[in-house]
Amino acid sequence: MVKQPYSQGRMLSIVVPTLNERDNVRALVQRLDDALSGLDWEVIFVDDDSTDGTPDVIRELSASDTRVRLLQRIGRKGLSSAAIEGLLSASAPILAVMDGDLQHDEKALPEMCGKIRDGSSDLVVASRYLTGGDFGNWSKGRRLVSQIATTLAGKLFGSQISDPMSGFFAMRREVFQSTMRKLSGIGFKLLLDILLSMPRGFQVAEVPLKFNARESGESKMNFAAAWDLVFMLMEKRLANLFPARFLMFCTIGTLGLFIHLTILRILYGSAQLDFAAAQLGATVFAMTSNYFLNNHLTFRPNQRRGLRALSGLASFYLVCSIGLVANVGVAQAVFNQQGAWWLSGIAGALVGAIWNYAVSSNITWRT
Ligand code: GDD
Ligand code: MN
Repeated sequence: MVKQPYSQGRMLSIVVPTLNERDNVRALVQRLDDALSGLDWEVIFVDDDSTDGTPDVIRELSASDTRVRLLQRIGRKGLSSAAIEGLLSASAPILAVMDGDLQHDEKALPEMCGKIRDGSSDLVVASRYLTGGDFGNWSKGRRLVSQIATTLAGKLFGSQISDPMSGFFAMRREVFQSTMRKLSGIGFKLLLDILLSMPRGFQVAEVPLKFNARESGESKMNFAAAWDLVFMLMEKRLANLFPARFLMFCTIGTLGLFIHLTILRILYGSAQLDFAAAQLGATVFAMTSNYFLNNHLTFRPNQRRGLRALSGLASFYLVCSIGLVANVGVAQAVFNQQGAWWLSGIAGALVGAIWNYAVSSNITWRT
């Protein structure tokens, strides 16, 4: 691999995903300016349609400072995918990703860059686990969950570094370019995605990170982000054979079967409804709950809200009804050939699931 010289031109592009960080972005640019004096840098904010006016503040900054750029995304969500798009638009040979809420200490950047410039490292992670690093004011509970996830990821993937969950890192452009077509881009943990997609031979180093307390705005970390992490890791483990979103869809589908049986039991067993009516009721109930779970989790980056959530539900009913016809048709065909009821059942269910996923992801959620 030919290492590019770092002599002239812009040295560092910093990508900062933002979602409702109005009161933080101006201070961040000021702090970068202080910390990076003498270095040629740019910052690319990738905003996912913040509702608090964040993009306006960034645009204003950008109008008077050519080092500041804004990439505004509409109808999409996701920290990792936002960072990837910012990285794709970056111009420097060294690329960094950091949060826009002042929780990542920008003073670590010169050292991170230095390790890349002197050729000793290709990827430098700011780690909360190194001596000198810490978790700031994270609650005991969140710290514990994060540490368990980090240990598990380390065990599962043989990760060499102490903090693969860090959202603050810098890398040579070549590292990003060697992984960008393999990334899942799902959820919050882009660094882990990169580490698991990276060819051997790159040098990884760490520097300590003191995690600052959040002063303004609020954290976007929630159950959905943890759920995304699990499926992103599964996708990596299965060598990208099954896309994470399909796995999520099937998990929710399986859950739907339990919901279906529970409702059927209530309607048929307890409420003494006619079997066909009970089965119909259970089916509609399960389809509806599947729709909302998928809307919230599987297709969160393209989530439908308000009235669009209802029209989406109608299209989901339609897609699933056709899926059901395909399911029964295929099962019947296999049954005629084979005679094994269970094989026919599985074949039908599989074809139905693939149909429902492929069509609803294109029509209902337009991914
Ligand atoms: N564009 C975009 N889209 N930005 C987002 C989104 C999104 O959907 N969700 C969050 N962000 C931005 C926030 O505005 C913030 O700048 C940054 O991403 C981090 O989000 P937080 O919600 O503040 O994350 P956190 O403090 O809970 O988690 C941090 O700590 C983790 C350490 O384990 C983040 O730094 C993670 O990246 C980090 O891995
Ligand atoms: Mn934060």
